[in-house]
Amino acid sequence: MKGDMILQVENLAVSFSTDGGTVRAVDRVGFELEKGGTLGVVGESGCGKSVTALSIMRLLPIPAAVIESGRIVFQGEDLLSYPPEKMARIRGGKIAMIFQEPMTALNPVHKIGGQIKEMYMLHQPSMTGEQMHKEALRMLDMVGIADPIKVLGLYPHHLSGGMRQRVMIAMALAARPDILIADEPTTALDVTVQAQILELIKKLQQEYAMSVLLITHDLGVIAEYCDRALVMYAGRVAEKAEVRHLFKNPSHPYTQGLLASIPSLAGKRKTELTTISGTVPSLKNLPHGCRFSNRCPHRMEVCVRQAPDRRVVSGDHTAACYLVRQGEGQNAHA
Ligand SMILES: Nc1ncnc2c1ncn2[C@@H]1O[C@H](COP(=O)(O)OP(=O)(O)O)[C@@H](O)[C@H]1O
Ligand SMILES: [Mg+2]
Repeated sequence: MKGDMILQVENLAVSFSTDGGTVRAVDRVGFELEKGGTLGVVGESGCGKSVTALSIMRLLPIPAAVIESGRIVFQGEDLLSYPPEKMARIRGGKIAMIFQEPMTALNPVHKIGGQIKEMYMLHQPSMTGEQMHKEALRMLDMVGIADPIKVLGLYPHHLSGGMRQRVMIAMALAARPDILIADEPTTALDVTVQAQILELIKKLQQEYAMSVLLITHDLGVIAEYCDRALVMYAGRVAEKAEVRHLFKNPSHPYTQGLLASIPSLAGKRKTELTTISGTVPSLKNLPHGCRFSNRCPHRMEVCVRQAPDRRVVSGDHTAACYLVRQGEGQNAHA
């Protein structure tokens, strides 16, 4: 394994029991997050991005969700083997998460000041009240809140969506986590605020030397803010690569379709927005073989018979597609 990995997810499979039977939302997903790096996870709604993130945080709704297999290795230990108390110290302390909707993390009936202070009491209990107050002001200032003293005394509903997102980031960073998981942190915000929040995350990442797992359905965000990317489709990894390799040589037809459907990164708008025909299959009714086969313009007979394994495009760029001619004549193992 190359580089310095802070997190390795191996062979993760998660299923949900629903009224209509069991569905496997995440199917043998594996990836690694480099220390100080930003890994983007991209894919259409329902492809398993949030379930993957919640598995890392051990926040899946139990008993509906079952982790069927896998390891989530953080600092050499499998988080899935941790007892709940030990995991509670990791969660929010070493690995923090921010969500699309800040109200998931903010308590509507408590003032912002009290909520930030609570983070310190949980994760840095040796701080005095005075230190917590000072640190809370510093953090709010750092996330770009103009009048931190005033904001400490406000309730979440007094703030705009963008301000709430900033407060949530300040809270997430209170314990100086090693990893920040950002699950579509800007999807609910308007475009200018989106860019501000993403820039903020980037700035804080550099300042704190954090590793970031950035979940998005927007390949443009991946291009701008991530160094590596994981493309997911219907619960599986379609492609995995350094971002520049992914854009230069997208090797899974799904990635190619995603790329074709975004406006040109150079700023030139395509006259026609190419989109992938068909829709994502329901997890209850998946096609045989490759899950993308019913939409794939290059479908071959083998694709509907058996799902392709991960194949090496070059280096650590892999794609689960028969069209990839094996770089070294062997399947990827990592
Ligand atoms: N609480 C739940 N109960 C049942 N199924 C769920 C639940 N949460 C997620 N799923 C299933 O997992 C799939 C992936 O969900 P999710 O990870 O939230 O997708 P996304 O990529 O949009 O974040 C969904 O399509 C759904 O089938
Ligand atoms: Mg999601």
